[in-house]
Formats: sequence, structure tokens, C-alpha cells
Amino acid sequence: MARRLFAGLRFVFALCVFEGAAGTETLVIGIAGRDVTLTCQNASQRALVVEWFQGDPDTAPVLFSSDGKLPEDARFSLVGNASLHITGLRPQDERNYTCKEVLNETDHLHRIQLLVASGPDRIDVHIQPTTVLPNGTFYAKRHGILNFTCTAISQPVPTIKWDFDPSGSPHELFTEVNGSQNSFILHQMSPRYQGNYTCSAKNPLSGFQETRTQELLVYYPPPSLPQCWVETSTESSRGVQLFCQWPGGYPHPSLYWRDKEDLSSKEINATSLADTIVATLNSSQLLHEKEFTCHGSHVLEQEAKASCTVQLVDPMIISDPVRNCFIGRAVTLTCLLIAGNPPARITWLRNISQPETEIRSTGRFHVSQVGNVSTLIIQNCSHSTDEGYYVCKAENSVGLREMYIHLTVTEPVNIGGIVGTIVVILLLGILVFFGVFLYAGPRFCPKGTLLRTRDTSDILVLMDSEDEDVLAESTGDPAWHKAMVRANGHATWPTESFRAEMPSEISLEEKEAGPTT
Ligand SMILES: *[C@@H]1O[C@H](CO)[C@@H](O)[C@H](O)[C@H]1NC(C)=O
Ligand SMILES: *[C@@H]1O[C@H](CO)[C@@H](O)[C@H](O)[C@H]1NC(C)=O
Ligand SMILES: *[C@@H]1O[C@H](CO)[C@@H](O)[C@H](O)[C@H]1NC(C)=O
Ligand SMILES: *[C@@H]1O[C@H](CO)[C@@H](O)[C@H](O)[C@H]1NC(C)=O
Ligand SMILES: *[C@@H]1O[C@H](CO)[C@@H](O)[C@H](O)[C@H]1NC(C)=O
Ligand SMILES: *[C@@H]1O[C@H](CO)[C@@H](O)[C@H](O)[C@H]1NC(C)=O
Ligand SMILES: *[C@@H]1O[C@H](CO)[C@@H](O)[C@H](O)[C@H]1NC(C)=O
Ligand SMILES: *[C@@H]1O[C@H](CO)[C@@H](O)[C@H](O)[C@H]1NC(C)=O
Ligand SMILES: *[C@@H]1O[C@H](CO)[C@@H](O)[C@H](O)[C@H]1NC(C)=O
Ligand SMILES: *[C@@H]1O[C@H](CO)[C@@H](O)[C@H](O)[C@H]1NC(C)=O
Ligand SMILES: *[C@@H]1O[C@H](CO)[C@@H](O)[C@H](O)[C@H]1NC(C)=O
Ligand SMILES: *[C@@H]1O[C@H](CO)[C@@H](O)[C@H](O)[C@H]1NC(C)=O
Repeated sequence: MARRLFAGLRFVFALCVFEGAAGTETLVIGIAGRDVTLTCQNASQRALVVEWFQGDPDTAPVLFSSDGKLPEDARFSLVGNASLHITGLRPQDERNYTCKEVLNETDHLHRIQLLVASGPDRIDVHIQPTTVLPNGTFYAKRHGILNFTCTAISQPVPTIKWDFDPSGSPHELFTEVNGSQNSFILHQMSPRYQGNYTCSAKNPLSGFQETRTQELLVYYPPPSLPQCWVETSTESSRGVQLFCQWPGGYPHPSLYWRDKEDLSSKEINATSLADTIVATLNSSQLLHEKEFTCHGSHVLEQEAKASCTVQLVDPMIISDPVRNCFIGRAVTLTCLLIAGNPPARITWLRNISQPETEIRSTGRFHVSQVGNVSTLIIQNCSHSTDEGYYVCKAENSVGLREMYIHLTVTEPVNIGGIVGTIVVILLLGILVFFGVFLYAGPRFCPKGTLLRTRDTSDILVLMDSEDEDVLAESTGDPAWHKAMVRANGHATWPTESFRAEMPSEISLEEKEAGPTT
């Protein structure tokens, strides 16, 4: 392409003779390394001899003449009896040439100024500080300061300009100077300065142009640490998928999963897409408390290794072991998931048959889950069909956990009767106390204290906020409930195994039944 352009120009320059002042002077531009022919204007056929001089004929010797004097330099030759032809132009050929036409009476002098244009060549682009990628592209760090320098050699001095082609934006001209170097500085490199930078050097004489394009990418590391999580595999509920994501960097980081304990282990087969890597694990690899680590590295932060770890965890749930429902009323059974990775699925089962049947939201049953709390609401409790064991089952790919909840369905109690009884007992207690006190007198105070200590019996009341709500609805006063529970004797400690998994909602109240002072 350049060569063809060049050949075309050579033709143009060979003929491109500018008329000088008085018609005796012309300007010819030759290209270094190429040929040029200087014609002796108006040399007539009648000319006897044509002589050529380098410089002024008065001072310079004859270079050569048409009558047989050969030039010392073989690059010079006479063409068409009058024209001077120079092959392989050199910078030192840039001179003023004179041709002398010797006629039978007068001589004609014709002056030709030859300019030799060379280049531009040795065009060089430097963008610093940058790193070169295998494909020749440069990359720089975001926020850096970059010096863009373009140099080129030409005779005469070139015009050098920088152009910027941002990816996906219109072309921009940055700077243009007449000189052999053009440099500029960009501060705070940002991704919008990513693109192709082109330096063009143009020879003002020949119009020849050379360009260099350099692709520059602006890299930046992810701003935070990688994030890891586990999900139940979409392909099989027995498998899990380990996700590791490290967003916000350019280019995307490289990530891999590895077994945390087994340091000799290889990378786990995984598929990565952009800033995320997903490893799909077989059920055989899923053990409780097994840990996997995702390691990430970014091209800008080779030495700083980022990682995140996930641990596979069996599900763990807590729930009330026993619940009561009054006939015709509603009861809420809750089950709280406190551990499990991947997150476990909670289902409610009734263990009246084998296999146990899952309870779904139909009719009097309503199953719902908010966050990690699953609730089963049974409306219009019936003693015959609803009393018995319910199972809260939490299951993930690693394990399974079940809890049994026993539901009793009882008749609503006669609140009035209980209140009356309590009031009577209280009155009796106060009477007895005052009786003893008056009888014994203040001197026997220690005795009274002894008596009170012995009479004191701690009654534990297991009270659930749900119960309270149900009762508050029916009686309008939660205080009745406590009284009722105490009188009814339903409040019991859960068995030892349940006590460990006592939900936080259950409040344990210690009531002193003895007389108060
Ligand atoms: C060259 O010749 C042309 C006509 O052929 C004439 O007009 C012109 O003046 C001549 N130039 C010189 C320098 O003699
Ligand atoms: C050169 O000169 C010779 C005679 O000396 C003549 O025959 C020939 O035609 C001339 N050539 C040109 C191109 O004028
Ligand atoms: C050639 O002539 C021009 C004027 O016509 C002059 O400016 C220039 O210096 C001369 N060049 C040389 C090499 O003598
Ligand atoms: C010079 O040219 C003229 C015509 O232009 C001619 O008459 C004359 O004879 C020539 N002289 C010689 C010596 O050839
Ligand atoms: C050069 O390599 C980088 C990184 O691999 C890539 O982003 C860029 O597109 C490549 N450039 C070209 C011109 O292929
Ligand atoms: C850019 O670097 C070049 C050399 O590579 C230097 O000549 C030029 O002065 C620098 N430009 C600035 C503005 O520092
Ligand atoms: C470079 O030189 C040319 C010709 O001498 C001139 O027209 C142009 O304005 C100059 N450019 C700069 C940037 O100096
Ligand atoms: C630079 O130019 C090449 C070729 O035209 C193109 O493939 C590449 O995407 C450009 N790079 C940028 C960053 O725009
Ligand atoms: C990793 O996955 C590829 C493609 O799915 C498979 O060809 C290769 O055998 C797997 N390697 C291991 C160690 O599982
Ligand atoms: C799952 O594990 C079994 C036995 O360990 C193996 O045969 C099978 O190829 C594994 N499947 C995948 C998808 O890794
Ligand atoms: C649910 O439990 C998991 C642990 O199994 C925990 O990571 C998550 O933060 C909990 N979610 C809520 C909303 O409490
Ligand atoms: C239901 O669970 C209880 C408590 O574990 C158990 O005793 C009973 O046998 C179970 N009933 C059935 C039908 O499995």
C-alpha cells in the first residue's frame, strides 16, 4: 500500500517543477532513495551543448556536459540530451543545480533547487508506565499517570499528531506538533481513556505519513473480597454448587475452588463465567463440616491472594417440643432453622402413617416460611384428628434433621372458676400469715422467715408468646393465662434433650407462690 502510494508520488515529483521567479528557477522535491530527473527548461533542439553545475556556474566546476564529459558520480546521468537524472537520492544531493544551454550565440542558464525529503521513519510510540500483553496490547493501572510519547525522524522535521479512538466513542484529536517528538501526560487514568491511540507522523514536504496504533487497556482490581456461598444443585437435590464471585475488577479475576483441608488436592473441576466460578459437587463429597476454599487472583495483584471459605453444615432446628390447642381454636407450631449450609428446606409432617405425609397449606392447615422460621397453623383444632406428633423436618444436601412436636388438644378451661379458686387461696394464705405473725409476735421473726422459706415452692411456668396471643385473644388479659397454666399443671420441663434446644421465644418465668412481704 505504502509502496504503491510512493510509486505514484515519485511520478508526480519527477514532473512537479515549480516555476521560479523570472522563469529561470524551479524547485524540485525528491524523495531520498528514489530517482529524480531535473529537466533543463526550454533546452532547444538547437542547443549545441548542455552543461550541468552543482551550484553557481561562475564558481562551481562543470558537473558534466552533453558533449562527453562524464560525471564522477555514476548516479548522475544525462537523459534526453539535456536533463539530469539522479538515482538513489541522498540527503547531500539537496543542492542548487544549474544547467547551461550553450547556443551558437548566447548561453541560457536555468537554476533548479532540489530538496530531498526523507521519512518519516523510525516512528516510535511509548506509553509509560505500562505492561505489554502477549498480543502487544499495553495495559496501565487505573488512577495512574501516563506519559504518551511518539517520536519520528524525517527530513524536514515531521508533523506528529496523536489521535484517540475510545472504545465505542467518536475519534478525538489530542495534540499536533511540528517536531520529532510529541508527548503528553494523562493524569488519573480512567477506563474511559481505554482504547486505541494512534500516532501519525507526516513529512510536510512529501506528504508521506506513517502511523502507529497502540491499544491501551486500563486495568483495576476488584474493590472488595470474593464472596462464597453454597446452593443446592439445580440438577440433583443430592448435590451442591459452590459459588464464588469476585466482581468489580477488570479484567476478570482468575478463581478456583479447592478442598480446604486437603492442601495437596488439585483444583476442583468448575465452570467459570466472567467474575464467578461454580463448582458442582457430587453427593459423595458432601460431608458435614467439610470446608472448601475459593482462591482468587487478579493480574494487578498477583502477590495478594484473596480467598473465601464455605463450610457445609447439617441443618439444625429448634422448636417447642409440646404445644396445646383448645378445641375449636387455632394453634401455631414454629420451627426455627439455626444452621444449615446450603440452606435447608423445611417441611412439616404428620407421623400418623408410614411413610409420613407432608402437610401442605390446605383446609385448616397453613404452612408458611419467613426467613428461617417456618410455621404451621392449625385452625379449628379437633381432639380426635389433630392430637399427636408433628414433625418439623429440615433437609439439605449434607444432612437431615427432624424434631417431633407433640400437640395436645384440650377443652377450654373455666377461667372464672380458676380465678375464684386462686383468690380464695390467696386470701387464705394472707389470713394464715397474719394469724401466725400476730400469734408469734415480732420476737419470732426468724421463725416466720423459716416458715416462709419452707413454704416457698418454685413453680416454673413454660409460656410461649404464641400461647399468650391465643389466650389474650380469648380472654383479653395475658395474666389469666399464667394463672391458668399454674393451676392446670400443664407447665412442664421439656425432656433433657429438648432443653438444649429450647427456643429463645420460650420464656421461663419463676413464680414465688409463697406469701409476699
Ligand atoms: C521557455 O519557452 C517558452 C515558450 O516555449 C517561453 O514562453 C518561455 O519564456 C521560455 N522560458 C525561458 C526561461 O526561456
Ligand atoms: C539527442 O541528440 C542527438 C544528436 O546529437 C539527436 O539525434 C537526438 O534526437 C537527441 N535526442 C533528444 C531526445 O533530443
Ligand atoms: C539555493 O538557492 C536558494 C535561493 O534560490 C537559497 O536560498 C539556498 O540557500 C540555496 N541553497 C544552497 C544549498 O546553496
Ligand atoms: C547561428 O545561428 C544563426 C541562426 O540562428 C545562423 O544563422 C548562424 O549561421 C549560426 N552560426 C553558426 C556558427 O552556426
Ligand atoms: C489483547 O489481549 C487482551 C487481553 O488478553 C485483550 O483484552 C485484547 O482485546 C487483545 N487485543 C487485541 C487487539 O487482540
Ligand atoms: C515523557 O517521556 C519522554 C521520554 O520518554 C520525555 O522526553 C518527556 O519529557 C516526558 N513528558 C513529560 C511531560 O514528562
Ligand atoms: C506546522 O507547520 C505547518 C507548516 O509549516 C504549519 O502550517 C502548522 O500550523 C504547524 N503546526 C503546528 C502545530 O505548529
Ligand atoms: C482497537 O482497535 C482494534 C482493531 O480495530 C479493535 O479490535 C479493538 O477493539 C480496539 N480496542 C479498543 C480498546 O477499542
Ligand atoms: C472436569 O470436567 C471436564 C469437562 O466436564 C471433564 O472432561 C474432566 O474429566 C473433569 N475432570 C475431573 C477431574 O473430574
Ligand atoms: C460422583 O461420584 C461418583 C463416585 O464417587 C463418580 O462415579 C461419579 O463420576 C461422580 N460424578 C460426577 C459428576 O463427578
Ligand atoms: C438463616 O440461617 C442461616 C444459617 O443457616 C444464616 O446464615 C442466615 O443469615 C439466616 N437468615 C436469617 C434471615 O436469619
Ligand atoms: C410418631 O412419633 C412418635 C415419637 O417419636 C413415635 O413414638 C411414634 O411411633 C410415631 N408414629 C408413627 C406412626 O411412626
